[in-house]
Amino acid sequence: MSAKSVKLENVTKQFTDDEGKVMTAVKEVSLHIEKGEFATLLGPSGCGKTTTLRMIAGFEELSNGAIMFGEDNVQNIPANKRDCTMVFQSYALFPHMSVYENICYGLKLKKLSKSEIEKRVTPIMDIMNLHVNKNRMPNQLSGGQQQRVALARALVMEPGVLLFDEPLSNLDAKLRITMRDEIRRIQKELGITAIYVTHDQSEAMSLSDRIVVMNEGRIEQVGPPMEIYQKPKTKFVSDFIGTANFLGGVVDKKDSDRLFVKTKQTTIEVLQKDADTFHEGQSVSVVVRPEAINLSKEGTESAKVLKSVFMGQIQEYELDFNGIQLYAVVADPGGKEVYYDGDSVNLTFSQRSLHVVPA
Ligand SMILES: Nc1ncnc2c1ncn2[C@@H]1O[C@H](COP(=O)(O)OP(=O)(O)OP(=O)(O)O)[C@@H](O)[C@H]1O
Ligand SMILES: [Mg+2]
Repeated sequence: MSAKSVKLENVTKQFTDDEGKVMTAVKEVSLHIEKGEFATLLGPSGCGKTTTLRMIAGFEELSNGAIMFGEDNVQNIPANKRDCTMVFQSYALFPHMSVYENICYGLKLKKLSKSEIEKRVTPIMDIMNLHVNKNRMPNQLSGGQQQRVALARALVMEPGVLLFDEPLSNLDAKLRITMRDEIRRIQKELGITAIYVTHDQSEAMSLSDRIVVMNEGRIEQVGPPMEIYQKPKTKFVSDFIGTANFLGGVVDKKDSDRLFVKTKQTTIEVLQKDADTFHEGQSVSVVVRPEAINLSKEGTESAKVLKSVFMGQIQEYELDFNGIQLYAVVADPGGKEVYYDGDSVNLTFSQRSLHVVPA
């Protein structure tokens, strides 16, 4: 198996409907996925994830731009000749073939000998724990087992690039986590380049080396999960990844790595590496993560507890902060003072969980 890098340069896709109306599903997307990297396209329904993946696979032609596998432009290579395979949400197994036959299918098409096929299939079936089910038909398998067969069938092709379109969304919550871990383990073990599509943020966070956040056909931000969470570039990204409170305000003062934002409630100091990209007087929002809010009897910013819920590992609070509702989460409530509905509290904000985005 030799993993390949994938490069998208200014990729655009337009569809024309029956009445001749043009809609742009993917807009000037540029992206470089490294060899052996696990990249996830994440975004709301209709933002262009599947369309992007289908163009990489060769199922959809580009309206503009280029896609490269390694150094090669794949424009003139049809889907079945491209060095990639796709795993679908629906598994798409052949119902009249056994597990073993399903897994071998692509290799038979490639005219590999019986012994060569066995040499490739056996270790993958080991990894995927499929030997006992070898002779069963797909309809005799659970959803998780079927998805494992679909994954094995893709892996035996030893593709340079492995594509996934929401492969786990038909599985129940627990199995989804098991399969997710399995996909990540195998991808790492075999060093495969993987491009994974989902609209589930926890799936994206747990699987990816980098997340590509998409919105309305465009890339909003690309980065490792923690960076996307801690340093979102836009309001959309901060809201889509994790939970965010927003305090609207204007930049009152700034220096090279700090912004002072004047909000209706208070002036907040935020450490921010890209402070340069903002100007004084600019309208902004301070992203306040729920875990950034500390409640106490000391401090200067007063708020009222609207709702307090004990959840075991955390205490959840809904707060009224001078007319703005904030959602706060305090870990290990057993070891801390807990406040209840109607209590007056004071707030402080942990600086490292604050971030400023354009309004
Ligand atoms: N063959 C097509 N003809 C016309 N419009 C299309 C076609 N395929 C996709 N679209 C449109 O392009 C946009 C992007 O669709 P796409 O399937 O890529 O979204 P997605 O991000 O995968 O969404 P979901 O999370 O719901 O799967 C949508 O508005 C969709 O209606
Ligand atoms: Mg889709």
